[in-house]
Amino acid sequence: MKFQYLLAAFFAAVVYAAPSNGGNNGEIVGNHDENDSSSSGECKPLLQSCNDNSDCCSDNCLAGFCLVGYNVKTMGSERLPLRQIGIYHNLPDFDSSLKGLTVIITGANGISGFHTMRALLAAPERWSKIYALSRRPPPEQMMGLLTPEQRSKVQHVACDFLESGDKIAQALKEANVTADYIFFYSYLQPKPPPGGAIWSNADELVKVNSALLSNFLDSLPQAGIKPTRFLLQTGAKNYGVHIGRIRTPSCESDPQPKDLQPNFYYPQEELLFKYCKDNGVGWNIIMPAWIIGATNNAQMNALHPFSVYAAVQAHKGEPLTFGGDWNAWQGLSFHSAARLTGFLSEWAVLEDKCKDQRFNAIDDSPFSWDRFFHELTRWFSVEKGVIPPPEDDSKYQEMTGRAGKETPLGYGPPTKIRASFTLSSWAKEEVNQKAWKELMSQSGGKLTHDPFEDIEANFSCGDAAWTTVMLCVNKARILGWTGFVDTMEAVFEMYSEMEQLGMVPAMKVDKPKPHV
Ligand SMILES: *[C@@H]1O[C@H](CO)[C@@H](O)[C@H](O)[C@H]1NC(C)=O
Ligand SMILES: *[C@@H]1O[C@H](CO)[C@@H](O)[C@H](O)[C@H]1NC(C)=O
Ligand SMILES: *[C@@H]1O[C@H](CO)[C@@H](O)[C@H](O)[C@H]1NC(C)=O
Repeated sequence: MKFQYLLAAFFAAVVYAAPSNGGNNGEIVGNHDENDSSSSGECKPLLQSCNDNSDCCSDNCLAGFCLVGYNVKTMGSERLPLRQIGIYHNLPDFDSSLKGLTVIITGANGISGFHTMRALLAAPERWSKIYALSRRPPPEQMMGLLTPEQRSKVQHVACDFLESGDKIAQALKEANVTADYIFFYSYLQPKPPPGGAIWSNADELVKVNSALLSNFLDSLPQAGIKPTRFLLQTGAKNYGVHIGRIRTPSCESDPQPKDLQPNFYYPQEELLFKYCKDNGVGWNIIMPAWIIGATNNAQMNALHPFSVYAAVQAHKGEPLTFGGDWNAWQGLSFHSAARLTGFLSEWAVLEDKCKDQRFNAIDDSPFSWDRFFHELTRWFSVEKGVIPPPEDDSKYQEMTGRAGKETPLGYGPPTKIRASFTLSSWAKEEVNQKAWKELMSQSGGKLTHDPFEDIEANFSCGDAAWTTVMLCVNKARILGWTGFVDTMEAVFEMYSEMEQLGMVPAMKVDKPKPHV
């Protein structure tokens, strides 16, 4: 029984990242048809093959590839000082002549869209206006995380992407929307048939999420909007991490396991490539791992349930028990702070050399459950401390995945996930639900959200969070991306902001301990 939940969660997990889709199999540079206006420039971007320095925009042809040089002809970020914004370090900046840009962010009320919006708002000269397109406006509480000046730059335009392109175009025209850049984060998650695991309805997901993008793309020419760059966010599911073994780390050029399971990322990519080719627009695809960021509705916010778990265990005077095994406890994985991914996305669309490229997006800050659980006890004053995983193998239930040719790796034994208990089963215990109600009443009206009302929606992603994701970000690094956040600090920031949203109980310390 418990195990069913874990299973559901495991498959769910993989959908992680909110939105989108991903891929150009293996080629570092995307659709460079000779007919493609986007690649008909006079010089070749970084990493393209070359014979001579003069072939390259960077004037530096080395070992047959265009590499970073000193005479860059584009207005890149490489010679500008880096920015430090709160816990986000060494962020690229751009020439001040790049200013007054307008942008459309779709799905700006979700975890990724909202935090990309915040990343852009950190450069107010550069971005003069943000059109937030979604059916409903971003919730008032979330907008409360912005300053009044930031809020004044955001205009919500109500659009339903399940409607026809004509209808969407009409809404865009009525609001006088213009867009130098577009970031697409819209995502719909139709409910699976009764009894089905979340995200088990892959075909339905494909249909609905392809329609969202397709209708929106149709509307753009009709509304007279032609961006310089269109960014689509997909996720680690691009690599089939939810299906079985994949290569580690995952690189952007890895093949997509299209034949193993339907995934709406792939048809979305086809739609994007066609639109960009037909209209002479550049594209970017961004693929985060587990996303971290404050939001009031994030079924994919895998670390959120651990705050609930820690606060309740502290309240009951009980320790934090870890439900995975020793491999999970000590293994390393990588997470993606949504705001850092937002900064990376801004960098990618503004750099000429990143045109028509896909990028993995992670904090590049190693994360282990051992260190996280010990920090959680400090943050929420869990006086009884941590109980590491059982050493006795009989205490675990085991879930076996696919093997051999049925996996993206194409060979090898099935993956095995072992759990001694799940958060979903823990959340079903009345004593824990009661403890949460007590925390709510003790908070004097500050803690308003009750995650126990929908256990599956609020906890199952946490059970899947032990699935390690190892994405390689060398490609962005080579092209000049320098941004960084300590994942532990990003989680602390998320909990602090979710405290303001009434979702997480007040923490007992002011600061996390970074991994230094
Ligand atoms: C460009 O497209 C046209 C029509 O599709 C085709 O006939 C032509 O060969 C293409 N040119 C190149 C250089 O690929
Ligand atoms: C759009 O522009 C027109 C013409 O300038 C103006 O009358 C109208 O108020 C604008 N609409 C919005 C929503 O800003
Ligand atoms: C948790 O469940 C509530 C109640 O059903 C729901 O409204 C909310 O969106 C869920 N929260 C998250 C983080 O998914």
